[in-house]
Amino acid sequence: MSAQPLPLTEEIAWISSDPHLSGNFAPVGPELDAPDLPVVSGRIPLELRGAYLRNGPNPLFQPLSFTYPMDGDGMVHAVHLQDGRARYRNRFVRTRGLDVELRAGHAVYGGLLGPRPVAPELVGTDGDPGPVKSGAFINVIEHAGHILALGESQPAYELTPDLDTIGEWKAGTGLPVEMGAHNRRHPVTGDLFAIAYSVFEPVVRVHRIDEGGALRRSFDVALGAPSMIHDFGLTARHLVLVVGPAVFDAGAVAEGRSFLQWRPELGARIGLIPLDGGPATWLETDAFFVFHIANAFERDGAVTVDYVRHDSFRPGYATGPRRPPTLHRLVADPLGRTVRDNPVADFLTEFPRINEARSAMPARFVYAPTLTASLRDANPPSATFNALVRVDTETGATRTYDAGDHILGEPAFIPRPGGTREDDGYLATYSFDPVECCSDLLILDAARVDAGPIAAIRLPQRVPQGLHGNWIPRP
Ligand SMILES: [Fe+2]
Repeated sequence: MSAQPLPLTEEIAWISSDPHLSGNFAPVGPELDAPDLPVVSGRIPLELRGAYLRNGPNPLFQPLSFTYPMDGDGMVHAVHLQDGRARYRNRFVRTRGLDVELRAGHAVYGGLLGPRPVAPELVGTDGDPGPVKSGAFINVIEHAGHILALGESQPAYELTPDLDTIGEWKAGTGLPVEMGAHNRRHPVTGDLFAIAYSVFEPVVRVHRIDEGGALRRSFDVALGAPSMIHDFGLTARHLVLVVGPAVFDAGAVAEGRSFLQWRPELGARIGLIPLDGGPATWLETDAFFVFHIANAFERDGAVTVDYVRHDSFRPGYATGPRRPPTLHRLVADPLGRTVRDNPVADFLTEFPRINEARSAMPARFVYAPTLTASLRDANPPSATFNALVRVDTETGATRTYDAGDHILGEPAFIPRPGGTREDDGYLATYSFDPVECCSDLLILDAARVDAGPIAAIRLPQRVPQGLHGNWIPRP
């Protein structure tokens, strides 16, 4: 039951000094529909027919506790493309927790790193019990015709193609399915694999959802400690867990410290989990942390993982005096019991993507945003980017589009219909102009990123920096 009629029309009424709630990280309030968006440069390729959907943390009410990118309400911004024209729609993900806060007229829940008990009378019978709201704000995907807004080990919320919230997704079962923000589709079977870690138990649950959208199997993988695992890799034969020592510690909360603790003395562990149910293989290495994996695949008996390496866990992909996160390639050899790890490129990055049609295979190209020196000197909030890079993981060669003072986000790959080459397609990303205070959807040629956008589509309102998105083609 929604507490307020749709759509919401009012601007966000509060401001915050948190850098990840300011500038282009500040949330927006209005839920808009805009037909026929102006194309301010270039042309929209006529062959593109579908929608680019992107989710991100967009708290409607001033948060009681906020840590980027772990808290917030989901808001999906969609640009539909057809016949060279574009239309826009954005909607909050109407989670049970957001409805509780809409009824209360203020924030009710704490954040992941600052959970707070919630008064039962505020929650009501149909609300999210808390203490942390299931925000469904990190990613948005399509599987088996279901559009799913995803949070972190929380119920997925199903949306209509018009972005209205249907409710918690049950995948053919009687209960909501708790799953993470990042999921991987098996290249042969089409099964969708998902994980959900526990913040209290040393375990991560693995789900296999078939290509028809039915949950077929769930099983638990034992860990050394309750660990934050934001993403994973999938090869044709294994689910690959890269477990850094970011550990949930309820005792620390009782002492007034963060729920999530960095324990480098525990090291990192690479888990190869056979998809056929066989015993897991674990390999140990020095401590590091992974938010995002670009791709994983098997070659010559070893598992290769292309990922962004953080020397330690810091919320918000923090920049600062320590080495910035960079693209690495890890090779785990289960027979030799070795882990080799080398940088692929030396630029600051996060949010790496590939042509997902090559997922679980030896994909060559990674597309990722970076921050060039022109903006880096200004020391903007972490997860601010102003350039896109195509990296050849075999040679290390790069092609870069530098957007100057415009802020860019994660690039999503759009395969060219009928394309055969790995880089035969487009990249889509939202761009923000801090001078004009307006946002565009940029379309780039994935093979020629350095040539700059082939289309810039002006949006009817600012689109906040956000997190992950995907292209959903229409037949
Ligand atoms: Fe993510």
